Amino acid sequence: MSGFGIYVHWPFCAAKCPYCDFNSHVRTRIDETGWVEAIGRELEWTAAKQGDARPIVETIFFGGGTPSLLQGASVARTLDAIARLWRTANDLEVTLEANPASADAARFADYRAAGVNRLSLGVQALNDKDLKLLGRLHDVAEAKAALNLAMTTFARVSLDLIYARPAQTVAEWRAELREALAFETEHLSLYQLTIEPATPFYGLHKSGTLKIPDEELAAELFEVTQELTASAGRPAYEISNHARPGAEARHNLLYWRYGSYAGVGPGAHGRLDVGGTRVATQSEKLPERWREKVRRDGHGMVETSEVSRGDAAHEHLLMNLRLTEGIDLAAYRARWGTAPSEERIAALREDGLVAVNGERLSATPRGRLLLNRVIAALSD
Ligand SMILES: C[S@@+](CC[C@H](N)C(=O)[O-])C[C@H]1O[C@@H](n2cnc3c(N)ncnc32)[C@H](O)[C@@H]1O
Ligand code: SF4
Repeated sequence: MSGFGIYVHWPFCAAKCPYCDFNSHVRTRIDETGWVEAIGRELEWTAAKQGDARPIVETIFFGGGTPSLLQGASVARTLDAIARLWRTANDLEVTLEANPASADAARFADYRAAGVNRLSLGVQALNDKDLKLLGRLHDVAEAKAALNLAMTTFARVSLDLIYARPAQTVAEWRAELREALAFETEHLSLYQLTIEPATPFYGLHKSGTLKIPDEELAAELFEVTQELTASAGRPAYEISNHARPGAEARHNLLYWRYGSYAGVGPGAHGRLDVGGTRVATQSEKLPERWREKVRRDGHGMVETSEVSRGDAAHEHLLMNLRLTEGIDLAAYRARWGTAPSEERIAALREDGLVAVNGERLSATPRGRLLLNRVIAALSD
Protein backbone atom coordinates (compact mmCIF):
# COMPACT_ATOMS: atom_id res chain seq x y z
CA MET A 1 0.00 0.00 0.00
CA SER A 2 0.99 3.62 -0.15
CA GLY A 3 2.01 4.41 3.42
CA PHE A 4 0.89 6.84 6.08
CA GLY A 5 1.69 10.54 6.58
CA ILE A 6 0.75 13.36 8.93
CA TYR A 7 -0.21 16.86 7.78
CA VAL A 8 0.07 19.67 10.34
CA HIS A 9 -1.70 22.92 9.42
CA TRP A 10 -0.37 26.23 10.78
CA PRO A 11 -3.13 28.73 9.92
CA PHE A 12 -1.38 32.08 10.37
CA CYS A 13 0.32 34.44 7.91
CA ALA A 14 1.98 37.83 8.29
CA ALA A 15 -0.31 39.19 5.54
CA LYS A 16 -3.04 37.71 3.38
CA CYS A 17 -2.15 37.45 -0.33
CA PRO A 18 -5.03 38.69 -2.52
CA TYR A 19 -5.21 35.51 -4.64
CA CYS A 20 -5.11 32.99 -1.79
CA ASP A 21 -8.08 31.02 -0.47
CA PHE A 22 -6.10 28.70 1.79
CA ASN A 23 -7.18 28.56 5.42
CA SER A 24 -4.80 31.32 6.45
CA HIS A 25 -5.43 34.18 8.85
CA VAL A 26 -3.65 37.29 10.05
CA ARG A 27 -3.58 37.86 13.82
CA THR A 28 -1.68 40.51 15.71
CA ARG A 29 -0.74 38.37 18.70
CA ILE A 30 -0.36 34.62 18.68
CA ASP A 31 0.10 32.54 21.80
CA GLU A 32 2.28 30.04 19.94
CA THR A 33 2.78 27.66 22.87
CA GLY A 34 -0.97 27.33 23.38
CA TRP A 35 -1.61 26.63 19.69
CA VAL A 36 1.16 24.04 19.54
CA GLU A 37 -0.24 22.36 22.65
CA ALA A 38 -3.65 22.17 20.98
CA ILE A 39 -2.07 20.55 17.90
CA GLY A 40 -0.47 18.02 20.29
CA ARG A 41 -3.89 17.18 21.75
CA GLU A 42 -5.32 16.60 18.30
CA LEU A 43 -2.40 14.30 17.48
CA GLU A 44 -3.21 12.30 20.63
CA TRP A 45 -6.86 12.06 19.61
CA THR A 46 -5.85 10.83 16.13
CA ALA A 47 -3.51 8.17 17.49
CA ALA A 48 -6.23 6.95 19.89
CA LYS A 49 -8.71 6.78 16.98
CA GLN A 50 -6.29 4.50 15.10
CA GLY A 51 -6.00 2.26 18.14
CA ASP A 52 -3.30 -0.38 18.46
CA ALA A 53 -2.91 -0.92 14.73
CA ARG A 54 -1.16 2.41 14.20
CA PRO A 55 0.72 2.55 10.92
CA ILE A 56 4.34 3.67 10.68
CA VAL A 57 4.65 7.37 9.88
CA GLU A 58 6.57 7.81 6.65
CA THR A 59 6.09 11.52 5.99
CA ILE A 60 5.23 14.67 7.94
CA PHE A 61 4.27 17.96 6.30
CA PHE A 62 3.98 21.35 8.03
CA GLY A 63 1.76 23.39 5.70
CA GLY A 64 -0.18 26.58 5.97
CA GLY A 65 -0.60 29.40 6.26
CA THR A 66 3.02 30.13 6.96
CA PRO A 67 4.63 27.48 9.16
CA SER A 68 7.96 29.32 8.88
CA LEU A 69 6.50 31.81 11.36
CA LEU A 70 6.88 29.03 13.95
CA GLN A 71 9.87 28.93 16.24
CA GLY A 72 12.15 25.93 15.89
CA ALA A 73 11.19 24.79 19.42
CA SER A 74 7.51 24.55 18.39
CA VAL A 75 8.38 22.38 15.39
CA ALA A 76 10.58 20.22 17.67
CA ARG A 77 7.76 19.81 20.20
CA THR A 78 5.33 18.74 17.50
CA LEU A 79 7.79 16.24 16.04
CA ASP A 80 8.51 14.86 19.54
CA ALA A 81 4.78 14.42 20.13
CA ILE A 82 4.47 12.46 16.87
CA ALA A 83 7.46 10.26 17.78
CA ARG A 84 5.89 9.47 21.17
CA LEU A 85 2.58 8.44 19.59
CA TRP A 86 3.69 6.57 16.46
CA ARG A 87 6.65 4.60 15.20
CA THR A 88 8.40 6.61 12.50
CA ALA A 89 10.23 5.29 9.43
CA ASN A 90 14.04 5.39 9.34
CA ASP A 91 13.87 7.52 6.21
CA LEU A 92 11.11 9.79 7.56
CA GLU A 93 10.52 12.79 5.26
CA VAL A 94 9.74 16.00 7.17
CA THR A 95 8.77 18.99 5.01
CA LEU A 96 8.09 22.54 6.14
CA GLU A 97 6.61 25.29 3.95
CA ALA A 98 8.49 28.55 4.26
CA ASN A 99 7.86 32.06 3.12
CA PRO A 100 10.95 34.08 2.01
CA ALA A 101 9.81 37.00 4.18
CA SER A 102 10.20 34.89 7.33
CA ALA A 103 13.41 33.07 6.36
CA ASP A 104 16.43 33.53 8.57
CA ALA A 105 19.56 31.47 9.11
CA ALA A 106 19.11 30.75 12.83
CA ARG A 107 15.50 29.69 12.33
CA PHE A 108 16.33 27.41 9.39
CA ALA A 109 19.15 25.83 11.44
CA ASP A 110 16.68 25.24 14.31
CA TYR A 111 14.23 23.54 11.94
CA ARG A 112 16.97 21.27 10.67
CA ALA A 113 18.07 20.44 14.23
CA ALA A 114 14.42 19.65 15.06
CA GLY A 115 14.27 17.08 12.23
CA VAL A 116 12.99 18.99 9.19
CA ASN A 117 14.83 17.57 6.18
CA ARG A 118 12.94 19.17 3.29
CA LEU A 119 12.03 22.83 2.80
CA SER A 120 9.42 24.13 0.38
CA LEU A 121 9.88 27.82 -0.35
CA GLY A 122 7.07 30.08 -1.65
CA VAL A 123 9.01 32.19 -4.16
CA GLN A 124 5.95 32.82 -6.43
CA ALA A 125 7.69 35.15 -8.93
CA LEU A 126 11.18 36.25 -9.87
CA ASN A 127 10.35 39.85 -10.77
CA ASP A 128 9.53 42.63 -8.33
CA LYS A 129 6.56 44.02 -10.29
CA ASP A 130 4.67 40.72 -10.08
CA LEU A 131 5.66 40.05 -6.47
CA LYS A 132 4.01 43.37 -5.67
CA LEU A 133 0.97 42.54 -7.73
CA LEU A 134 0.68 39.21 -5.85
CA GLY A 135 0.79 41.14 -2.57
CA ARG A 136 3.94 39.39 -1.39
CA LEU A 137 6.02 40.80 1.44
CA HIS A 138 9.33 39.84 -0.18
CA ASP A 139 11.22 41.08 -3.23
CA VAL A 140 13.37 39.09 -5.68
CA ALA A 141 16.58 39.74 -3.75
CA GLU A 142 15.02 38.31 -0.57
CA ALA A 143 13.61 35.33 -2.45
CA LYS A 144 17.04 34.49 -3.88
CA ALA A 145 18.73 34.95 -0.50
CA ALA A 146 16.14 32.64 1.10
CA LEU A 147 16.67 30.06 -1.66
CA ASN A 148 20.44 30.09 -1.21
CA LEU A 149 20.03 29.79 2.54
CA ALA A 150 17.57 26.91 2.14
CA MET A 151 19.96 25.10 -0.20
CA THR A 152 22.90 25.38 2.17
CA THR A 153 20.78 24.30 5.18
CA PHE A 154 18.60 21.48 3.83
CA ALA A 155 19.46 18.48 1.69
CA ARG A 156 16.12 18.73 -0.10
CA VAL A 157 14.58 21.99 -1.33
CA SER A 158 11.53 22.78 -3.42
CA LEU A 159 10.37 26.13 -4.75
CA ASP A 160 6.88 27.35 -5.61
CA LEU A 161 6.11 29.70 -8.49
CA ILE A 162 2.77 30.98 -9.74
CA TYR A 163 2.51 31.53 -13.50
CA ALA A 164 -0.17 32.58 -16.01
CA ARG A 165 -0.11 35.90 -14.21
CA PRO A 166 -1.75 39.08 -15.52
CA ALA A 167 0.02 40.34 -18.67
CA GLN A 168 2.64 37.57 -18.54
CA THR A 169 4.03 36.64 -21.96
CA VAL A 170 5.43 33.27 -23.01
CA ALA A 171 8.88 34.81 -23.51
CA GLU A 172 8.85 36.34 -20.01
CA TRP A 173 7.78 33.07 -18.42
CA ARG A 174 10.47 31.17 -20.33
CA ALA A 175 13.15 33.53 -19.00
CA GLU A 176 11.81 33.44 -15.45
CA LEU A 177 11.43 29.67 -15.33
CA ARG A 178 14.96 29.24 -16.75
CA GLU A 179 16.23 31.45 -13.97
CA ALA A 180 14.37 29.38 -11.36
CA LEU A 181 15.67 26.10 -12.84
CA ALA A 182 19.24 27.44 -12.68
CA PHE A 183 19.05 27.16 -8.88
CA GLU A 184 18.90 23.38 -9.44
CA THR A 185 16.47 22.67 -6.61
CA GLU A 186 15.51 19.00 -6.85
CA HIS A 187 11.78 19.90 -6.89
CA LEU A 188 9.54 22.69 -8.19
CA SER A 189 5.80 23.32 -7.72
CA LEU A 190 4.60 25.45 -10.63
CA TYR A 191 0.98 26.54 -10.29
CA GLN A 192 -1.17 28.35 -12.82
CA LEU A 193 -2.82 31.31 -11.12
CA THR A 194 -6.41 30.42 -10.33
CA ILE A 195 -9.01 33.03 -9.46
CA GLU A 196 -10.69 31.79 -6.31
CA PRO A 197 -14.10 32.98 -5.09
CA ALA A 198 -14.07 35.25 -2.02
CA THR A 199 -10.56 36.59 -2.70
CA PRO A 200 -9.77 40.22 -3.66
CA PHE A 201 -8.50 38.92 -7.04
CA TYR A 202 -11.97 37.51 -7.72
CA GLY A 203 -13.64 40.93 -7.48
CA LEU A 204 -10.91 42.59 -9.54
CA HIS A 205 -11.17 39.88 -12.19
CA LYS A 206 -14.94 40.12 -12.34
CA SER A 207 -14.87 43.88 -12.78
CA GLY A 208 -12.33 43.52 -15.61
CA THR A 209 -9.54 45.33 -13.73
CA LEU A 210 -7.44 42.17 -13.45
CA LYS A 211 -6.97 40.31 -16.72
CA ILE A 212 -5.40 36.86 -16.76
CA PRO A 213 -4.22 34.82 -19.78
CA ASP A 214 -7.03 33.25 -21.81
CA GLU A 215 -7.32 29.47 -22.14
CA GLU A 216 -5.14 29.32 -25.24
CA LEU A 217 -2.28 31.33 -23.75
CA ALA A 218 -2.58 29.43 -20.45
CA ALA A 219 -2.26 26.14 -22.37
CA GLU A 220 0.82 27.48 -24.16
CA LEU A 221 2.38 28.53 -20.84
CA PHE A 222 1.65 25.04 -19.48
CA GLU A 223 3.37 23.45 -22.49
CA VAL A 224 6.43 25.66 -22.10
CA THR A 225 6.53 24.62 -18.43
CA GLN A 226 6.51 20.93 -19.40
CA GLU A 227 9.20 21.44 -22.02
CA LEU A 228 11.65 23.50 -19.95
CA THR A 229 11.37 21.42 -16.79
CA ALA A 230 11.80 18.17 -18.73
CA SER A 231 14.90 19.44 -20.50
CA ALA A 232 16.34 20.57 -17.16
CA GLY A 233 15.87 17.04 -15.73
CA ARG A 234 12.86 18.06 -13.58
CA PRO A 235 9.95 16.51 -15.50
CA ALA A 236 6.34 16.78 -14.30
CA TYR A 237 5.28 13.89 -12.09
CA GLU A 238 1.95 15.57 -11.31
CA ILE A 239 -0.08 18.39 -12.92
CA SER A 240 1.89 21.15 -11.16
CA ASN A 241 4.80 19.28 -9.59
CA HIS A 242 8.20 18.63 -11.11
CA ALA A 243 11.20 16.79 -9.72
CA ARG A 244 14.43 15.08 -10.47
CA PRO A 245 13.36 11.42 -10.75
CA GLY A 246 13.55 9.98 -7.24
CA ALA A 247 13.21 13.41 -5.59
CA GLU A 248 9.41 13.63 -5.71
CA ALA A 249 7.65 14.90 -2.57
CA ARG A 250 6.86 11.61 -0.86
CA HIS A 251 4.17 13.23 1.27
CA ASN A 252 2.28 14.53 -1.75
CA LEU A 253 2.81 11.26 -3.61
CA LEU A 254 1.09 9.57 -0.70
CA TYR A 255 -2.06 11.67 -1.31
CA TRP A 256 -2.02 11.04 -5.02
CA ARG A 257 -1.39 7.31 -4.64
CA TYR A 258 -4.35 7.27 -2.27
CA GLY A 259 -2.44 6.36 0.85
CA SER A 260 -3.76 7.30 4.27
CA TYR A 261 -2.95 10.45 6.19
CA ALA A 262 -3.90 12.29 9.33
CA GLY A 263 -4.61 16.02 9.21
CA VAL A 264 -4.28 18.11 12.36
CA GLY A 265 -4.70 21.83 12.95
CA PRO A 266 -7.52 24.18 11.87
CA GLY A 267 -9.20 23.19 8.61
CA ALA A 268 -6.99 20.14 8.01
CA HIS A 269 -8.55 17.05 6.53
CA GLY A 270 -7.46 13.46 6.73
CA ARG A 271 -8.13 9.99 5.37
CA LEU A 272 -7.52 7.32 7.98
CA ASP A 273 -7.84 3.59 7.55
CA VAL A 274 -9.51 2.34 10.72
CA GLY A 275 -10.37 -1.37 11.03
CA GLY A 276 -10.62 -1.86 7.26
CA THR A 277 -12.73 1.25 6.59
CA ARG A 278 -11.63 4.58 5.24
CA VAL A 279 -12.56 7.43 7.54
CA ALA A 280 -12.62 11.04 6.33
CA THR A 281 -11.84 13.70 8.90
CA GLN A 282 -12.37 17.44 8.54
CA SER A 283 -11.58 19.91 11.26
CA GLU A 284 -13.09 23.30 12.09
CA LYS A 285 -11.55 26.01 9.90
CA LEU A 286 -11.69 29.14 12.02
CA PRO A 287 -8.62 28.94 14.30
CA GLU A 288 -10.25 30.29 17.46
CA ARG A 289 -13.29 28.04 17.13
CA TRP A 290 -11.01 25.07 16.39
CA ARG A 291 -8.98 25.78 19.53
CA GLU A 292 -12.07 26.08 21.69
CA LYS A 293 -13.31 22.75 20.35
CA VAL A 294 -9.96 21.08 21.08
CA ARG A 295 -10.10 22.46 24.63
CA ARG A 296 -13.61 21.08 25.05
CA ASP A 297 -13.49 17.78 23.13
CA GLY A 298 -9.79 16.95 22.71
CA HIS A 299 -10.05 17.45 18.93
CA GLY A 300 -11.25 20.07 16.47
CA MET A 301 -12.91 17.67 14.03
CA VAL A 302 -16.31 18.75 12.78
CA GLU A 303 -16.74 15.68 10.65
CA THR A 304 -15.52 12.13 10.87
CA SER A 305 -17.38 9.91 8.49
CA GLU A 306 -16.88 6.60 6.73
CA VAL A 307 -16.09 7.01 3.05
CA SER A 308 -18.37 4.66 1.07
CA ARG A 309 -16.62 2.19 -1.21
CA GLY A 310 -18.02 4.00 -4.28
CA ASP A 311 -16.73 7.39 -3.12
CA ALA A 312 -13.36 5.95 -2.14
CA ALA A 313 -12.98 4.31 -5.56
CA HIS A 314 -13.81 7.64 -7.23
CA GLU A 315 -11.30 9.54 -5.07
CA HIS A 316 -8.66 6.94 -5.83
CA LEU A 317 -9.14 7.36 -9.60
CA LEU A 318 -9.12 11.13 -9.33
CA MET A 319 -5.95 11.25 -7.27
CA ASN A 320 -4.03 8.68 -9.35
CA LEU A 321 -4.80 10.39 -12.65
CA ARG A 322 -3.14 13.60 -11.46
CA LEU A 323 0.13 11.69 -11.61
CA THR A 324 2.20 11.19 -14.73
CA GLU A 325 2.51 7.51 -13.76
CA GLY A 326 -1.33 7.27 -13.79
CA ILE A 327 -3.25 4.36 -12.37
CA ASP A 328 -2.61 0.62 -12.18
CA LEU A 329 -5.96 -0.69 -13.36
CA ALA A 330 -5.31 -4.27 -12.18
CA ALA A 331 -4.55 -3.10 -8.62
CA TYR A 332 -7.51 -0.74 -8.75
CA ARG A 333 -9.87 -3.51 -9.87
CA ALA A 334 -8.52 -5.84 -7.18
CA ARG A 335 -9.11 -3.20 -4.49
CA TRP A 336 -12.53 -1.88 -5.52
CA GLY A 337 -14.01 -4.61 -7.74
CA THR A 338 -14.63 -2.12 -10.55
CA ALA A 339 -12.68 -0.12 -13.15
CA PRO A 340 -13.43 2.33 -15.99
CA SER A 341 -14.83 0.56 -19.06
CA GLU A 342 -12.74 -0.10 -22.14
CA GLU A 343 -15.09 1.90 -24.39
CA ARG A 344 -14.76 5.02 -22.28
CA ILE A 345 -10.99 4.69 -22.18
CA ALA A 346 -10.88 4.18 -25.96
CA ALA A 347 -12.92 7.35 -26.58
CA LEU A 348 -10.58 9.45 -24.44
CA ARG A 349 -7.59 7.83 -26.12
CA GLU A 350 -8.90 8.90 -29.50
CA ASP A 351 -9.15 12.49 -28.21
CA GLY A 352 -5.51 12.32 -27.09
CA LEU A 353 -6.43 12.78 -23.42
CA VAL A 354 -5.26 9.42 -22.03
CA ALA A 355 -2.62 6.81 -22.84
CA VAL A 356 -2.60 3.10 -22.05
CA ASN A 357 0.46 1.00 -21.38
CA GLY A 358 -0.45 -2.57 -20.39
CA GLU A 359 -2.50 -2.21 -17.20
CA ARG A 360 -1.42 1.42 -16.70
CA LEU A 361 -3.83 4.18 -17.63
CA SER A 362 -2.50 7.72 -17.52
CA ALA A 363 -3.65 11.16 -18.60
CA THR A 364 -1.53 12.82 -21.30
CA PRO A 365 -0.21 16.34 -20.46
CA ARG A 366 -3.24 17.80 -22.27
CA GLY A 367 -5.48 15.35 -20.38
CA ARG A 368 -3.98 16.45 -17.06
CA LEU A 369 -4.82 20.03 -17.96
CA LEU A 370 -8.42 18.92 -18.66
CA LEU A 371 -8.57 16.42 -15.83
CA ASN A 372 -12.14 17.22 -14.74
CA ARG A 373 -13.32 16.30 -18.23
CA VAL A 374 -11.31 13.07 -18.18
CA ILE A 375 -12.63 12.03 -14.76
CA ALA A 376 -16.21 12.84 -15.71
CA ALA A 377 -15.89 10.77 -18.88
CA LEU A 378 -14.42 7.80 -17.00
CA SER A 379 -17.02 7.85 -14.23
CA ASP A 380 -20.77 7.52 -14.51
C1 LIG B 1 0.37 27.55 1.63
S1 LIG B 1 1.17 28.32 0.31
C2 LIG B 1 2.93 28.07 0.56
C3 LIG B 1 3.65 28.65 1.75
C4 LIG B 1 3.55 30.13 2.05
N1 LIG B 1 2.29 30.41 2.65
C5 LIG B 1 3.77 31.01 0.88
O1 LIG B 1 2.78 31.44 0.28
O2 LIG B 1 4.93 31.29 0.58
C6 LIG B 1 0.92 27.13 -0.97
C7 LIG B 1 1.14 27.55 -2.40
O3 LIG B 1 -0.07 27.60 -3.11
C8 LIG B 1 0.08 28.44 -4.24
N2 LIG B 1 -1.18 29.20 -4.40
C9 LIG B 1 -1.97 29.71 -3.44
N3 LIG B 1 -3.06 30.30 -4.00
C10 LIG B 1 -2.95 30.15 -5.34
C11 LIG B 1 -3.75 30.55 -6.48
N4 LIG B 1 -4.90 31.22 -6.32
N5 LIG B 1 -3.33 30.20 -7.70
C12 LIG B 1 -2.18 29.50 -7.87
N6 LIG B 1 -1.39 29.13 -6.86
C13 LIG B 1 -1.77 29.43 -5.62
C14 LIG B 1 1.28 29.31 -3.99
O4 LIG B 1 2.28 29.00 -4.93
C15 LIG B 1 1.73 28.91 -2.61
O5 LIG B 1 3.11 28.85 -2.51
S1 SF4 C 1 1.55 33.61 2.54
FE1 SF4 C 1 0.87 31.67 1.52
S2 SF4 C 1 -0.83 30.87 2.76
FE2 SF4 C 1 -0.44 33.00 3.43
S3 SF4 C 1 -1.91 34.18 2.28
FE3 SF4 C 1 -0.02 34.16 1.08
S4 SF4 C 1 -0.17 32.34 -0.32
FE4 SF4 C 1 -1.77 32.17 1.26
